[in-house]
Amino acid sequence: MFTSTFQSIVDRRRSVRIFDNNAPFDESVVSKSIALSVLSANSSNMQLWEFYQIKTKAVHEALNKACMGQSAAKTASQLVVFVTRQDKWKERVQWNIDKLEKQFEGKELTKKDLRAFDYYKKLMPLVYRYDSFGFNTLLRSIIVFFMGFNKPFLRIRNHGDQRVMCHKSCALAAQTFMLSMASEGYDTCPMEGFDSDLVKKILKLPSSAEINMIIACGIGKPEGIYSERVRVPNQEVIFEV
Ligand SMILES: Cc1cc2nc3c(=O)[nH]c(=O)nc-3n(C[C@H](O)[C@H](O)[C@H](O)COP(=O)(O)O)c2cc1C
Repeated sequence: MFTSTFQSIVDRRRSVRIFDNNAPFDESVVSKSIALSVLSANSSNMQLWEFYQIKTKAVHEALNKACMGQSAAKTASQLVVFVTRQDKWKERVQWNIDKLEKQFEGKELTKKDLRAFDYYKKLMPLVYRYDSFGFNTLLRSIIVFFMGFNKPFLRIRNHGDQRVMCHKSCALAAQTFMLSMASEGYDTCPMEGFDSDLVKKILKLPSSAEINMIIACGIGKPEGIYSERVRVPNQEVIFEV
Protein backbone atom coordinates (compact mmCIF):
# COMPACT_ATOMS: atom_id res chain seq x y z
CA MET A 1 0.00 0.00 0.00
CA PHE A 2 2.71 2.46 1.10
CA THR A 3 4.97 1.33 -1.76
CA SER A 4 2.35 2.09 -4.37
CA THR A 5 1.66 5.50 -2.80
CA PHE A 6 5.35 6.38 -2.88
CA GLN A 7 5.66 5.08 -6.42
CA SER A 8 2.75 7.27 -7.53
CA ILE A 9 4.36 10.35 -5.95
CA VAL A 10 7.69 9.64 -7.68
CA ASP A 11 5.84 9.04 -10.95
CA ARG A 12 3.89 12.26 -10.60
CA ARG A 13 6.91 14.48 -10.06
CA ARG A 14 8.03 15.83 -13.38
CA SER A 15 9.92 19.00 -14.21
CA VAL A 16 7.12 21.26 -15.40
CA ARG A 17 8.09 24.39 -17.32
CA ILE A 18 4.69 26.05 -17.80
CA PHE A 19 2.33 26.64 -14.89
CA ASP A 20 -1.31 27.64 -14.87
CA ASN A 21 -1.46 31.06 -13.21
CA ASN A 22 -5.24 30.90 -12.93
CA ALA A 23 -5.28 27.63 -11.01
CA PRO A 24 -5.87 27.96 -7.25
CA PHE A 25 -2.60 27.87 -5.35
CA ASP A 26 -2.30 27.21 -1.63
CA GLU A 27 1.01 28.65 -0.48
CA SER A 28 0.67 26.93 2.89
CA VAL A 29 1.50 23.68 1.03
CA VAL A 30 4.84 25.28 0.09
CA SER A 31 5.48 26.25 3.74
CA LYS A 32 4.57 22.74 4.86
CA SER A 33 6.84 21.18 2.22
CA ILE A 34 9.74 23.40 3.29
CA ALA A 35 9.15 22.31 6.90
CA LEU A 36 9.42 18.69 5.71
CA SER A 37 12.60 19.47 3.75
CA VAL A 38 14.24 20.52 6.99
CA LEU A 39 13.81 16.90 8.15
CA SER A 40 15.95 15.59 5.27
CA ALA A 41 19.12 13.68 5.94
CA ASN A 42 22.04 16.10 6.07
CA SER A 43 25.75 15.79 6.67
CA SER A 44 26.54 15.54 10.41
CA ASN A 45 23.25 17.32 11.12
CA MET A 46 25.11 20.58 10.43
CA GLN A 47 22.07 21.95 8.53
CA LEU A 48 24.15 24.35 6.47
CA TRP A 49 21.17 25.37 4.41
CA GLU A 50 18.47 28.03 4.12
CA PHE A 51 15.15 28.07 2.30
CA TYR A 52 13.58 31.21 0.88
CA GLN A 53 9.88 31.09 0.04
CA ILE A 54 9.34 34.04 -2.28
CA LYS A 55 6.08 35.75 -1.40
CA THR A 56 6.85 39.28 -2.62
CA LYS A 57 5.90 40.02 -6.24
CA ALA A 58 8.85 42.35 -6.82
CA VAL A 59 11.31 39.72 -5.57
CA HIS A 60 9.66 37.04 -7.73
CA GLU A 61 9.99 39.32 -10.77
CA ALA A 62 13.63 40.09 -9.98
CA LEU A 63 14.30 36.35 -9.67
CA ASN A 64 12.61 35.74 -13.04
CA LYS A 65 15.25 37.97 -14.57
CA ALA A 66 17.99 36.16 -12.66
CA CYS A 67 16.60 32.88 -14.07
CA MET A 68 17.16 34.43 -17.48
CA GLY A 69 13.48 34.46 -18.37
CA GLN A 70 13.00 30.68 -18.06
CA SER A 71 9.31 29.95 -18.49
CA ALA A 72 9.20 27.80 -15.35
CA ALA A 73 10.21 30.83 -13.25
CA LYS A 74 8.07 33.28 -15.21
CA THR A 75 4.85 31.27 -14.97
CA ALA A 76 5.38 29.82 -11.45
CA SER A 77 2.86 30.65 -8.74
CA GLN A 78 5.72 30.67 -6.27
CA LEU A 79 9.50 30.25 -6.20
CA VAL A 80 11.60 28.68 -3.46
CA VAL A 81 15.35 29.29 -3.31
CA PHE A 82 17.57 26.63 -1.74
CA VAL A 83 20.78 28.09 -0.35
CA THR A 84 23.92 26.56 1.20
CA ARG A 85 25.58 28.33 4.14
CA GLN A 86 28.98 26.78 4.72
CA ASP A 87 29.94 30.03 6.42
CA LYS A 88 27.62 29.13 9.31
CA TRP A 89 29.61 26.03 10.28
CA LYS A 90 30.85 27.45 13.61
CA GLU A 91 27.31 28.35 14.69
CA ARG A 92 26.08 24.87 13.80
CA VAL A 93 28.95 23.17 15.61
CA GLN A 94 28.02 25.15 18.72
CA TRP A 95 24.32 24.33 18.23
CA ASN A 96 25.13 20.62 18.10
CA ILE A 97 27.40 20.86 21.16
CA ASP A 98 24.66 22.72 23.08
CA LYS A 99 22.18 19.98 22.15
CA LEU A 100 24.57 17.28 23.35
CA GLU A 101 25.18 19.15 26.63
CA LYS A 102 21.44 19.32 27.22
CA GLN A 103 20.99 15.67 26.29
CA PHE A 104 23.75 14.55 28.68
CA GLU A 105 22.94 16.98 31.54
CA GLY A 106 23.52 15.38 34.95
CA LYS A 107 24.73 12.14 33.39
CA GLU A 108 28.14 10.60 33.82
CA LEU A 109 29.66 10.70 30.35
CA THR A 110 30.50 7.38 28.70
CA LYS A 111 33.21 6.94 26.08
CA LYS A 112 30.51 7.03 23.41
CA ASP A 113 29.18 10.35 24.77
CA LEU A 114 32.69 11.83 24.78
CA ARG A 115 33.16 10.68 21.19
CA ALA A 116 29.99 12.57 20.25
CA PHE A 117 31.48 15.77 21.74
CA ASP A 118 34.81 15.15 19.99
CA TYR A 119 32.96 14.74 16.72
CA TYR A 120 31.75 18.34 16.89
CA LYS A 121 34.66 19.84 18.84
CA LYS A 122 37.48 18.27 16.79
CA LEU A 123 36.35 16.61 13.57
CA MET A 124 33.89 19.26 12.35
CA PRO A 125 36.41 22.15 12.69
CA LEU A 126 38.95 20.01 10.85
CA VAL A 127 36.45 19.33 8.06
CA TYR A 128 34.83 22.76 7.71
CA ARG A 129 37.51 25.34 8.57
CA TYR A 130 38.62 27.39 5.56
CA ASP A 131 40.49 30.56 4.66
CA SER A 132 41.08 32.39 1.44
CA PHE A 133 44.88 31.78 1.48
CA GLY A 134 44.53 27.98 1.43
CA PHE A 135 46.38 27.39 4.74
CA ASN A 136 43.61 25.11 6.00
CA THR A 137 43.54 23.18 2.72
CA LEU A 138 47.29 22.63 2.98
CA LEU A 139 47.03 21.56 6.62
CA ARG A 140 44.09 19.24 5.85
CA SER A 141 45.88 17.73 2.84
CA ILE A 142 48.88 16.90 5.05
CA ILE A 143 46.63 15.41 7.75
CA VAL A 144 44.67 13.40 5.15
CA PHE A 145 47.91 12.17 3.58
CA PHE A 146 49.39 10.89 6.83
CA MET A 147 46.20 9.73 8.54
CA GLY A 148 44.94 8.08 5.37
CA PHE A 149 48.28 6.66 4.26
CA ASN A 150 47.46 3.05 5.03
CA LYS A 151 43.94 3.20 6.41
CA PRO A 152 40.56 4.63 5.39
CA PHE A 153 40.26 8.34 6.23
CA LEU A 154 37.81 11.07 5.25
CA ARG A 155 39.17 12.66 2.05
CA ILE A 156 37.88 16.18 2.57
CA ARG A 157 40.72 18.47 1.58
CA ASN A 158 39.83 21.66 -0.21
CA HIS A 159 37.02 24.19 -0.44
CA GLY A 160 35.57 22.27 -3.41
CA ASP A 161 35.17 19.16 -1.22
CA GLN A 162 33.45 21.28 1.45
CA ARG A 163 31.11 22.86 -1.08
CA VAL A 164 30.12 19.45 -2.46
CA MET A 165 29.32 18.35 1.08
CA CYS A 166 26.97 21.31 1.62
CA HIS A 167 25.30 21.01 -1.79
CA LYS A 168 24.64 17.26 -1.35
CA SER A 169 22.58 17.87 1.78
CA CYS A 170 20.78 20.85 0.30
CA ALA A 171 19.87 18.88 -2.85
CA LEU A 172 18.39 16.13 -0.69
CA ALA A 173 16.22 18.77 0.97
CA ALA A 174 15.19 20.00 -2.50
CA GLN A 175 14.12 16.48 -3.43
CA THR A 176 12.09 16.11 -0.22
CA PHE A 177 10.44 19.42 -1.10
CA MET A 178 9.53 18.36 -4.64
CA LEU A 179 8.15 15.00 -3.54
CA SER A 180 6.10 16.66 -0.81
CA MET A 181 4.68 19.13 -3.34
CA ALA A 182 3.88 16.25 -5.71
CA SER A 183 2.12 14.37 -2.91
CA GLU A 184 -0.14 17.42 -2.47
CA GLY A 185 -0.99 17.59 -6.17
CA TYR A 186 1.40 20.42 -7.09
CA ASP A 187 4.08 20.55 -9.76
CA THR A 188 7.63 21.83 -9.57
CA CYS A 189 10.67 22.56 -11.69
CA PRO A 190 14.16 22.54 -10.16
CA MET A 191 16.46 25.08 -11.79
CA GLU A 192 20.18 25.72 -11.78
CA GLY A 193 19.99 27.95 -14.82
CA PHE A 194 20.32 31.32 -13.08
CA ASP A 195 22.76 34.11 -12.41
CA SER A 196 23.86 33.16 -8.90
CA ASP A 197 25.49 36.54 -8.17
CA LEU A 198 22.24 38.26 -9.04
CA VAL A 199 20.16 35.86 -6.93
CA LYS A 200 22.42 36.49 -3.94
CA LYS A 201 22.11 40.22 -4.45
CA ILE A 202 18.29 40.02 -4.68
CA LEU A 203 18.09 37.96 -1.46
CA LYS A 204 20.76 40.11 0.24
CA LEU A 205 22.92 37.07 0.90
CA PRO A 206 26.64 37.28 1.72
CA SER A 207 29.13 36.21 -0.95
CA SER A 208 29.92 33.05 1.07
CA ALA A 209 26.34 31.77 0.62
CA GLU A 210 25.71 29.64 -2.47
CA ILE A 211 22.54 29.08 -4.44
CA ASN A 212 21.84 25.37 -4.70
CA MET A 213 18.61 25.41 -6.70
CA ILE A 214 15.58 27.53 -7.37
CA ILE A 215 12.37 25.54 -7.48
CA ALA A 216 9.38 26.83 -9.41
CA CYS A 217 6.01 25.70 -8.02
CA GLY A 218 2.42 25.68 -9.21
CA ILE A 219 -0.18 23.68 -11.06
CA GLY A 220 1.42 22.61 -14.28
CA LYS A 221 -0.21 22.93 -17.68
CA PRO A 222 -0.14 19.72 -19.78
CA GLU A 223 2.06 21.50 -22.33
CA GLY A 224 4.48 22.35 -19.48
CA ILE A 225 5.86 18.82 -19.71
CA TYR A 226 8.13 19.11 -22.69
CA SER A 227 8.83 15.47 -23.37
CA GLU A 228 8.20 11.92 -22.33
CA ARG A 229 10.18 10.88 -19.26
CA VAL A 230 13.20 8.96 -20.54
CA ARG A 231 16.27 7.56 -18.81
CA VAL A 232 19.34 5.65 -20.04
CA PRO A 233 18.87 1.87 -19.60
CA ASN A 234 19.12 0.77 -15.96
CA GLN A 235 21.99 -1.59 -16.76
CA GLU A 236 24.15 1.43 -17.68
CA VAL A 237 23.79 3.02 -14.27
CA ILE A 238 22.64 0.38 -11.77
CA PHE A 239 25.15 -2.27 -10.74
CA GLU A 240 25.00 -5.22 -8.42
CA VAL A 241 28.45 -6.01 -7.04
C1 LIG B 1 20.14 20.32 -10.32
C2 LIG B 1 19.11 20.45 -11.41
C3 LIG B 1 19.09 21.58 -12.18
C4 LIG B 1 18.12 21.75 -13.17
N1 LIG B 1 18.05 22.93 -13.87
C5 LIG B 1 17.04 23.13 -14.72
C6 LIG B 1 16.86 24.42 -15.31
O1 LIG B 1 17.59 25.35 -15.06
N2 LIG B 1 15.81 24.57 -16.16
C7 LIG B 1 14.94 23.56 -16.44
O2 LIG B 1 14.01 23.79 -17.21
N3 LIG B 1 15.08 22.34 -15.88
C8 LIG B 1 16.10 22.11 -15.03
N4 LIG B 1 16.22 20.89 -14.39
C9 LIG B 1 15.26 19.81 -14.68
C10 LIG B 1 15.90 18.67 -15.46
O3 LIG B 1 16.11 19.05 -16.78
C11 LIG B 1 14.96 17.45 -15.32
O4 LIG B 1 14.93 17.04 -13.98
C12 LIG B 1 15.41 16.27 -16.19
O5 LIG B 1 15.33 16.57 -17.55
C13 LIG B 1 14.57 15.01 -15.90
O6 LIG B 1 13.19 15.26 -16.10
P1 LIG B 1 12.10 15.05 -14.93
O7 LIG B 1 12.50 15.95 -13.78
O8 LIG B 1 10.79 15.48 -15.53
O9 LIG B 1 12.11 13.63 -14.52
C14 LIG B 1 17.17 20.72 -13.41
C15 LIG B 1 17.22 19.56 -12.62
C16 LIG B 1 18.16 19.44 -11.61
C17 LIG B 1 18.13 18.22 -10.73
